[in-house]
Amino acid sequence: MMAPPSPYSFQIIMLLSLTTLLHIASHHHIQAAGSKVEYLPGFDGPLPFQLETGYVGLGDTDDDLQVFYYFVESENDPKNDPLILWLTGGPGCSSFSGLAYQIGPIKFKIEEYNGSSLPNLLLRPQSWTKVSNIIFVDLPFGTGFSYAKDVISHRSDWKLVHHTHQFIRKWFIEHPEFLSNKFYMGADSYSGIPAPAIVHEISNGNDKGLHPWINLQGYLLGNPTTTKKEPNDRIPYVHGMALISDELFLSLQRNCKGEYMNIDSQNHLCLRDMQYFQECLSRINTFDILDIYCEDNSLKNNEAKQRVFLSEIVEASRSSYLSVPAMDCQIYGFFLGTQWANDASVRKALHIREEIGKWERCYTTDFDYDIASSFEFHVNLSAKGYRSLIYSGDHDAVVPFSSTQAWIRALNYSIVDDWRPWFLNGQVAGYTRTYANQMTFATVKGAGHTAPEYKPDEGLAMFSSTTITTATTTTTSPPPLPQSQHYHHRQKKKKPQTFEYWICNRTLGGDITVKRGRRDGEGGRWCGERPSFLTRAAADSGELEFLLQRWNLLNTGTRAGSESSQLMSELELDSVATR
Ligand SMILES: *[C@@H]1O[C@H](CO)[C@@H](O)[C@H](O)[C@H]1NC(C)=O
Ligand SMILES: *[C@@H]1O[C@H](CO)[C@@H](O)[C@H](O)[C@H]1NC(C)=O
Ligand SMILES: *[C@@H]1O[C@H](CO)[C@@H](O)[C@H](O)[C@H]1NC(C)=O
Ligand SMILES: *[C@@H]1O[C@H](CO)[C@@H](O)[C@H](O)[C@H]1NC(C)=O
Repeated sequence: MMAPPSPYSFQIIMLLSLTTLLHIASHHHIQAAGSKVEYLPGFDGPLPFQLETGYVGLGDTDDDLQVFYYFVESENDPKNDPLILWLTGGPGCSSFSGLAYQIGPIKFKIEEYNGSSLPNLLLRPQSWTKVSNIIFVDLPFGTGFSYAKDVISHRSDWKLVHHTHQFIRKWFIEHPEFLSNKFYMGADSYSGIPAPAIVHEISNGNDKGLHPWINLQGYLLGNPTTTKKEPNDRIPYVHGMALISDELFLSLQRNCKGEYMNIDSQNHLCLRDMQYFQECLSRINTFDILDIYCEDNSLKNNEAKQRVFLSEIVEASRSSYLSVPAMDCQIYGFFLGTQWANDASVRKALHIREEIGKWERCYTTDFDYDIASSFEFHVNLSAKGYRSLIYSGDHDAVVPFSSTQAWIRALNYSIVDDWRPWFLNGQVAGYTRTYANQMTFATVKGAGHTAPEYKPDEGLAMFSSTTITTATTTTTSPPPLPQSQHYHHRQKKKKPQTFEYWICNRTLGGDITVKRGRRDGEGGRWCGERPSFLTRAAADSGELEFLLQRWNLLNTGTRAGSESSQLMSELELDSVATR
């Protein structure tokens, strides 16, 4: 798939002599926690934000299964702002991509590069770290600066899921001060496959009582691969965008019958239509159909032709360079990043271990695709009541918005806030709709595959207005239980429903999880094997809202997430008075 295999860490380690290994073990001090980064080569002056980088080891030894991360603290209120774990797509694209090209605080200055000085860095004013803490993690192994002795045996969807789960629990052990922050998983592109499974695993781990308990609230995904049937939606999408003719579209529908991925080699009519389709698209940048098309010389000719059909490896291309791309190409920034990340002074500043080989933005080969679809995880996570934001750059033909809308619709939740424009500076910035499973879908108008990269102002506006960032701040020491409260409802006529609450004492950092069940006792093992009920109270639905808000643990772990959010949208509490 890609240009010559690069010298990855495993090869390097194998080449090292025993004495060198001993040298590394004794002299190269392996730090447990991360280290602050105050200056970065290419950036003028001290960094005006808090950056920490480091390794978290998942193996038994200090030289195996080392996961590299960048942690950027919120510039607003790091103690109370949400904490996002960000996984870039690929699989195998370094999350440095998220940091330097999409939602992080720095970006490369696009200027001519002559090889005699380092690429320069600038601040990104629309960084999502203005309002949240973000951990950018390099996984699966072999990605970015993460390494393992035997990289290839650690690369699959499920391994990526387990490793990310192990990573985050270990990261929290080293950063207990962030345990009370609301935690969200964030991912885009191919990581729409592993990310929901990671959230599922973290949730199950919490249910089993794994330590430390993670204040998991939900997830956000951008143009996420989900069913892997996305390529089938490209045909109607590019037809809608006038990139193919009505006649070709009708013929494709007739001859291929909606299946454009696995075409029967005997189906000559469909193959003929597909070839015509390919010709129409061959010089379109499918990641952003409005952006300029740049010849990608890291691909072989036949692969470039096939590119529009790639279903799994959506970011496989665009990672290594045989020649310098044109400066107005998006990939020119990737080229600069590759020069920068391979410079010795940069590696020293980032605390990269000496044994790490060449950095490539994406290392997508040698990967076992063992999760076919993430749809079922969305089904389960919706039932558990987690919040989610799913956004689509609407000019992406790789994972078109229509694919995303189709699987969201298939979850069968009712709409609580129907399709409407959302605005930035008085202009329509996209459209949004919210479902009863607390899932908000939003488009970013005019954006490509990685929406905030193409539309940074809109990206930050969207992120800062979702409940992820706007929900009231987490209380580290919960206030006393409201035993008898009086509530006024705007809709007084509505008969209040009665619920029971179980307040589980799952203290870790002082948190309490509020869980809810129906009167009939349906519910079960919410607190693990033996529920440790602290308090039990019956109240009307207004109290439910109040309680959940009060602890800012809206719906954590509730069974009937859809039901309660429907309830909440019906009730507009205008005041809460204490009697
Ligand atoms: C290369 O670019 C840098 C920064 O733009 C400049 O200072 C330097 O003189 C250039 N070197 C050459 C050989 O052109
Ligand atoms: C979803 O939850 C059900 C019930 O707990 C379980 O049987 C199923 O395996 C889960 N699905 C996935 C994809 O884990
Ligand atoms: C959604 O509804 C359809 C039609 O009733 C059903 O076939 C499908 O299984 C439902 N999906 C889920 C996730 O429940
Ligand atoms: C919750 O459990 C912890 C540890 O068992 C205990 O120290 C704490 O007092 C309990 N909290 C409440 C509010 O009962």
